[in-house]
Amino acid sequence: IGHTRWATHGSISEANAHPHLSVDGQFAIVHNGIIENFEELKQRYNFHLISETDTEVFVNLISQQNGDVLDKLIAASDVARGSFSIALLHKGENKIYLAKQGSPLMVAVGKNGCMVASDSSVFGNDFDDIFCMEDGEFAILEKNGVTFFDKNKQKIEKTPILRELFDFDEQNTQEKYFMLKEIKEQSAVLRKTYFKFFSQGVNIDIQAIRKFKSFHLVACGTAYHSCLMGARYIQELCKKECKVTIASEFRYSDNLLNKNCLYIFVSQSGETADTIASAKLVKDSGFSVMCVTNVPYCSLNNYADYILPTFAGREVAVASTKAYTAQVFTLLIFASMLSGKDMQEKLKRFVLNFEIALLDDKILQEIFKYKKIFFIGRGQDYFTCLEGSLKLKEIAYINCLGIPAGELKHGTLALIDEDTLIIAVATQENLKEKLISNILEAKSRGAKVIVLSQFENFFKEALQINLPQFDEFLMPIVSIVPLQHLAFEYSIKLGLSPDKPRNLAKSVTVE
Ligand code: M6R
Repeated sequence: IGHTRWATHGSISEANAHPHLSVDGQFAIVHNGIIENFEELKQRYNFHLISETDTEVFVNLISQQNGDVLDKLIAASDVARGSFSIALLHKGENKIYLAKQGSPLMVAVGKNGCMVASDSSVFGNDFDDIFCMEDGEFAILEKNGVTFFDKNKQKIEKTPILRELFDFDEQNTQEKYFMLKEIKEQSAVLRKTYFKFFSQGVNIDIQAIRKFKSFHLVACGTAYHSCLMGARYIQELCKKECKVTIASEFRYSDNLLNKNCLYIFVSQSGETADTIASAKLVKDSGFSVMCVTNVPYCSLNNYADYILPTFAGREVAVASTKAYTAQVFTLLIFASMLSGKDMQEKLKRFVLNFEIALLDDKILQEIFKYKKIFFIGRGQDYFTCLEGSLKLKEIAYINCLGIPAGELKHGTLALIDEDTLIIAVATQENLKEKLISNILEAKSRGAKVIVLSQFENFFKEALQINLPQFDEFLMPIVSIVPLQHLAFEYSIKLGLSPDKPRNLAKSVTVE
């Protein structure tokens, strides 16, 4: 049992790392989630612990209970408050005990053994059956199989999830890094998405969704940026009101929920704690939920009235790339279907012609000279700036900013000097002149400017990254690719680890 856990309690130290042992040395545990009453339990039982973690409290709580191991686990799970999925070893036994409450837990069973993980994407192809554990369930994993129990220790028969729903399809690649592999896969992902929606057909009741008068999109991180783009598509094509909120804000604000609104939750993993809690809140209040997820069996989908799948395939690198473009493209297709406008030919031409182009070394060397970088853009390009800047922060640890170009003079301009690089994203004809004025504001304060555009010689005194020419509304999918690649190359240049940036986890299953 092992766990690359993002430290939620205590510093990142060996003592705080999983697995944790009980003081009597009888049990070892790995745990995903948070035991909220750990401090109270620690005092009540007077545990003398080595680490600062809630998990060490939990394993000792288990060892203190009566009965056999399953009795102890069930009893401790009843006392612990919060969320947990755990794998537990008992000294001398060749078994792994499992419990789930709030955090995801999946079990795979095959001829060569069994496996448990918090995300099905790790299983690969070697298993026959995959089971999704529900809250309040327990299990014992042995070499040849798994037995599931309820909290009364009664055995439960669980139905495995349909194997075909998992996309373990690994494209053959020689890439050393998942992130670069995933960046390069984006044109194939867009083609697959087109094929799924327009040739195979995706099972979603568009007719029923048309009855909603407004939409509210909710997500975290990169998925939030795709919501910004998705809301723009829905608003422009359907002329319906659309709001977008970050999930960690949504769940704690006084939202006036509305039965005429469809609440749309977007998540690559479908396991993001804040997004799940927000969807649960809407669902429990009796309102309508749609989930846009990249993993068919995920906790988020449990709250869905409608599921809109994305087809990015397994995304491994912590920095989201192909899941982002898949989300943006899927929300565009969704908006077009909802509006009843026939955009199929345009989308087909796009997916057939769009190829991934990477940045050349000359531009990269120029950018590497800067540690202070602002991404500026207007309208749809502003969303690309937010996403480009998140990528650069996340994997190259550059303190950068994505900002609406028109906002510069309302404060940020004060930061601009000769050490600043401005990356201006320019994909919209009607905003060209406005953006040029903003570029001039920065340039006259000494900033270096690089433009990202499909328009030839957009600003003659600037270096330009040329984008291929497609319809303007498709340019957000095109223009993000060089920014993803930039973040990757900057990370490599600094000797960092682009696939596994410090302090971050792929699925943020805790609040
Ligand atoms: O799995 P989700 O789409 O719900 O994840 C949301 C964010 O945690 C995620 O997009 C995060 O911002 C990425 N690491 C950014 O690259």
